[in-house]
Amino acid sequence: MTATTAAAPTASARERSYEELESIFAGIEAPYALVDLDAMWSNGDEMLARAQDTPIRVASKSVRCRPLLAAMLDADVRQHPARPGAQRGSPGFRGLMTFTLPESLWLHGHGFDDLLLAYPSADRGALAELARLDPERAPIAMVDSVEQLDYMEDASGGTGGGRIRVCIELDVGWWPLGGRVKVGAKRSPVRTPEQARALAREIEARPRFELAALMGYEAHIAGLGDHPLGKRMQAPLIRFMKRRSAAEIAERRAAVVAAVREVSPVPIVNGGGTGSVHLTAREPAVTEITAGSGFFAPTLFDRYSDFTLTPAAMFAMPVVRRPSGSVATLLGGGYHASGAAGSDRLPAPYLPRGLRLDPLEGAGEVQTPVTGSAAASLRIGDRVYLRHAKAGELCERFDRLYLVSGDRIVDEVPTYRGEGRCEL
Ligand SMILES: Cc1ncc(COP(=O)(O)O)c(C=O)c1O
Repeated sequence: MTATTAAAPTASARERSYEELESIFAGIEAPYALVDLDAMWSNGDEMLARAQDTPIRVASKSVRCRPLLAAMLDADVRQHPARPGAQRGSPGFRGLMTFTLPESLWLHGHGFDDLLLAYPSADRGALAELARLDPERAPIAMVDSVEQLDYMEDASGGTGGGRIRVCIELDVGWWPLGGRVKVGAKRSPVRTPEQARALAREIEARPRFELAALMGYEAHIAGLGDHPLGKRMQAPLIRFMKRRSAAEIAERRAAVVAAVREVSPVPIVNGGGTGSVHLTAREPAVTEITAGSGFFAPTLFDRYSDFTLTPAAMFAMPVVRRPSGSVATLLGGGYHASGAAGSDRLPAPYLPRGLRLDPLEGAGEVQTPVTGSAAASLRIGDRVYLRHAKAGELCERFDRLYLVSGDRIVDEVPTYRGEGRCEL
């Protein structure tokens, strides 16, 4: 991708019509995946506006395309003057939050040098390689226990190996009713200021490690829509939970940061995700927010009441048969999203408007029948555009992404998969 493409100008962020996409993709065979750069940048603007003056670290797992990640980090004020955040002097997008250690090392080898690995690694070979890098530029590894420190030491040269920067992950789940109810992802056992300080002391006591960051991801706020599909009754409860939990996290995270700084001047305090940018940005203790999915705006992010994004990533599948006058059947299309299985994890027919999945077949391995008002007019060889429920997972299904801006395809870039990578 060229610098010119990376700096694609912002058109107004409006949803595209079927006819528009069909005219842009005339002559290109489906299946294919595309990213509408105009929508992607406007979603970036939206997140920066919510982040106020806090920089955003881009979640690589939610993009999984190296040229796009590079473009996001390059999209500074000069290249992108229309961005609301830029006008207020926002520091913009800074660094990547990565998802596997081999991926982080690969990105590092391609010149990305501000990398925070969000999940612990037990990959001995990759840990050994990490310890051989310049620690100031190497990815920061995630830990939440002494056992992991022992493991990393053992895997990477014992007590005499190279220095590794680490980040402590804090559990930011909501535990009301004296802990009888626990809401939040089951991630770190480190929850209190005392626990965090004790782990910080252990890190500081080991010459192999340097404490560089603290991270707490509020998945039950950032990754949970306010009005989930098919669960309308839960909406008020979810909003209540989010409000209470955000207030509790702000207080506890500040106390944890203060406790850890008694031991070490930890410079990075990371929190948040696309769904919580505006809430996490209110916490004075937080130095940066992570977000990634918002760029692509998959369907799970249609279900938040505080912000609106524009669909940017989608894929097109061809109609291959007509079982009846009211059904058109697409080839393949069963690209389900990860997480607890439910209809919200299915891809959604997007364009032409007025299509839906068949409730008995859903989206299938070899075929996806669609019904609804637009189905009757679809013919063999027509394309249907679908949106994935999550962001980066779409890139595990396609080698390339067509990048669209204005009324044309401006570039074609490889996904991680297209570069021969097989991530999680
Ligand atoms: C540690 C961490 N931070 C932040 C995020 C938010 O990413 P996104 O903005 O893509 O939802 C995630 C998503 O899973 C995460 O695991």
